[in-house]
Amino acid sequence: MKTLVLIFHPHINNSRVNKALKQEVLKNTSKEVIVRDEYEKYPDEKIDVELEQSLLEKAGRIVLQFPMYWYSCPSLLKKWEDQVLLHGWAYGSTGNALKGKEMVIAVSTGAPAKNYHIYGDFHYTIDEMLIPFKATSNLIGTKFLKPFILQGVMQNLTDEQLKKESERYVDYILSNK
Ligand SMILES: Cc1cc2nc3c(=O)[nH]c(=O)nc-3n(C[C@H](O)[C@H](O)[C@H](O)COP(=O)(O)O)c2cc1C
Repeated sequence: MKTLVLIFHPHINNSRVNKALKQEVLKNTSKEVIVRDEYEKYPDEKIDVELEQSLLEKAGRIVLQFPMYWYSCPSLLKKWEDQVLLHGWAYGSTGNALKGKEMVIAVSTGAPAKNYHIYGDFHYTIDEMLIPFKATSNLIGTKFLKPFILQGVMQNLTDEQLKKESERYVDYILSNK
């Protein structure tokens, strides 16, 4: 099954976590594993909708990797959703292009897991924060796999832990489910 990994980080060169995840998954690039850094592809944010749709059509599993920004995603991913997941293609009575494919959200959060709790600082769980992605997946008919979540990355994540997490990420997104 082909896996398409779309990375959305506006400053990947200043990134620690998403850069490490990207580098690990890039080691596995092949005909079956396509990795795209979307901010790098579209520095002017002009998304090639036809190209994006054709890549999605060829994939069996779609991975959306990004850092959490304001309890959501960086803005290019939102723009990508708005422009690529079109009515009549991704949803609606004739919109079946992505039906049956798998979707994985891979997100890093600066804050620790304990904040993402009803009694924590943010009062909502990470699963609740990701509901819009799950609802989108439901609408377009993809199977929403368990998200890959890396939390508390601004705290005590050592280089060794980050290396392990990067390997766990790649094992997870490339394994059969
Ligand atoms: C604009 C902005 C908004 C952010 N919003 C959140 C947030 O809502 N929740 C959170 O836990 N971390 C938030 N962070 C922290 C990032 O998620 C964190 O820096 C990132 O996951 C680290 O990955 P990186 O090393 O690849 O940049 C935010 C960071 C920025 C720059």
